[in-house]
Amino acid sequence: MKAAVVFSPGGPEALELVECPDPEPEEGEVVIRIRAFGLNRAELFTRQGDSGDAVAFPRIIGIECVGEVVAAPGTAFAEGQRVAAMMGGMGRSYDGSYAEMTRVPARSVFAVETNLDWATFGALPEMFQTSQGSLSMGLEGKSGDTLFIRGGTSSIGLTVASLARRAGMTVAATTRNASKQAALERAGVDHVILDDGGSLVGPVHEAFGRGADAVLDLIGTTTLRDSLRCAGPGGRVCMTGILGGRWVWDGFEPFLDLPNGVFLTSYSGGSEDVTAVQLQDFVDDVAAGKIAVGLDRIFSLDEIVEAHRYMEANRAKGKLVVVP
Ligand SMILES: NC(=O)c1ccc[n+]([C@@H]2O[C@H](COP(=O)([O-])OP(=O)(O)OC[C@H]3O[C@@H](n4cnc5c(N)ncnc54)[C@H](OP(=O)(O)O)[C@@H]3O)[C@@H](O)[C@H]2O)c1
Repeated sequence: MKAAVVFSPGGPEALELVECPDPEPEEGEVVIRIRAFGLNRAELFTRQGDSGDAVAFPRIIGIECVGEVVAAPGTAFAEGQRVAAMMGGMGRSYDGSYAEMTRVPARSVFAVETNLDWATFGALPEMFQTSQGSLSMGLEGKSGDTLFIRGGTSSIGLTVASLARRAGMTVAATTRNASKQAALERAGVDHVILDDGGSLVGPVHEAFGRGADAVLDLIGTTTLRDSLRCAGPGGRVCMTGILGGRWVWDGFEPFLDLPNGVFLTSYSGGSEDVTAVQLQDFVDDVAAGKIAVGLDRIFSLDEIVEAHRYMEANRAKGKLVVVP
């Protein structure tokens, strides 16, 4: 099979297309013929060598895919079945999805019945898992809550907005670019907040008449201090992204930075946080047009270097997908 291998970390050109042996499954593993896979910023960090000891090179990176089962000895999966696979060490502790085939443990595989085109289906697994996990485990979001999303036009932000609206929440979300207001409203955002880089406590109070019950921060450590102040009493704040590009929270002072009675957590994802039924429901809602998928561009596996350049340059306005 053809695969994009990182032999040693570096820029986009560190992804080298080579011929590799087809994967052979052992008991409890699933070999998948990959039909599409989404690109993720986590893969960009891995390619750059920022994953530390968690990733040894050479490695076929890629933390998610969709495709058809080739073989799955000792599991409930059948040959030809449509599946999604994600996380659980995929593309990090063992070879992942930047290839024509992959081999993963059955616990990371979800059977999905759908006639969605492969590229659209391929955009969904990790996007759904992160969004659903942030909303339920991270924020304990429930009907009637007010939710403020910082980084609203990211693919995660738009998906969380759709899921939150479907669950009966009222949503405010940011963009730095007024021309993206309509995209936020299409995703179900009730209050679009223009982010000019300053404090957003005022606009959030204007939107909800008080601080938010739940705050999802996708910009990260550079905005977290202000996001905590955007939460009302008893509010939950979850950091799921670092679009601001800063891993460490400089000068964190718990007594000053954490308002009384506001709860802070983070969400780093895991396939065990969603069920096959939840994923199937989400895929069905996308197929029925109830949830819009922000798909920006589709690449072939041969274009993987260009795809990473595009992602790294922040040119995407939605999910990037590779169809091998
Ligand atoms: N924890 C997990 O399990 C997990 C999983 C997947 C992704 N993530 C993280 O979630 C975040 C979102 O990922 P994504 O793939 O959905 O992103 P994306 O679609 O690539 O987001 C791009 C958008 O983010 C906004 N943005 C970028 N830099 C910004 C900044 N410095 N300040 C404010 N807004 C900025 C821009 O919107 P505007 O121009 O409209 O402002 C841009 O259009 C990333 O940090 C990613 O690493 C986490």
